[in-house]
Amino acid sequence: MTQDIHPIGIFDSGYGGLTILKEIVNKLPDYDFYYLGDNARTPYGTRSYDIVYQYTREAVIKLFDMGCHLVILACNTASAKALRTLQQNDIPRIDPNRRVLGVIRPSVEKIPELTRTRHVGILATTGTVLSDSYPMEIRKISGGNDIITHQEACPMWVPIVENNEIDTPGAAYFIRKDITRLIDKDPLIDTLVLACTHYPLLLKQIIKIVPGHIRIISQGKIVAASLVDYLKRHPEMDAVCTKNGTLNFFTTESIRTFEEKAEFFLNHGLRVHHIHLTETPIHNLICSR
Ligand code: DGL
Repeated sequence: MTQDIHPIGIFDSGYGGLTILKEIVNKLPDYDFYYLGDNARTPYGTRSYDIVYQYTREAVIKLFDMGCHLVILACNTASAKALRTLQQNDIPRIDPNRRVLGVIRPSVEKIPELTRTRHVGILATTGTVLSDSYPMEIRKISGGNDIITHQEACPMWVPIVENNEIDTPGAAYFIRKDITRLIDKDPLIDTLVLACTHYPLLLKQIIKIVPGHIRIISQGKIVAASLVDYLKRHPEMDAVCTKNGTLNFFTTESIRTFEEKAEFFLNHGLRVHHIHLTETPIHNLICSR
């Protein structure tokens, strides 16, 4: 890949980030994008803090090395477990002018204006739930315990998406089980956050189970609007991001399978490349600039 372009990097453990990319491309069609899916090592949601941090760091360094100055972690698990360390420890050493942003903060900022009962349900991976990031961020944003948060881990949902089992009775079983368990915790829940970027790919099944009075929140549009706002507030970053309207996909697994999953992007001239992720020595990154 040429270093003459500086795309915005979008990273996820697999296909989930495509639900974010789709909305971002709708809002910013002129920008260049690299989407990186670590399909070979998905799911991240059941992995330890150290492993998620290591894998995410490898992906971010790779995207930096390929010319991205701005990377969005389109993955809640990576945002929960790796974002802060990357922002505070890694970026200042690698290149203080580069940026990594996550998906949790923009999603949480929306919650107070969406819930009327102030009782919110969070559906997420085991890793995101155990990190307690959503309840903590919600408490910060609402200034205390004004919003009651309940979480439910859905460890089977990402494997269902990654293995193309979306429209099966098995998928319906797990989706019903996890949603029912969450809703049963608190009848006042009026807002359900799909706090994993894979989950909107299961929306058809989710809608069948969630009672009509409960609002379902997907993150794509929220994160896209927040990125547009970020670029407005950071013209120096906006100026660096190149704008040729190109879209390139990188997967650590099979190109063919990825092409099927990303077919929504066919009209953008889908270009999928295989990529191998290992730690890129930081001095290589610095020398390449
Ligand atoms: N899309 C990722 C998220 O938002 C899924 C994590 C996984 O691989 O389990 O959390």
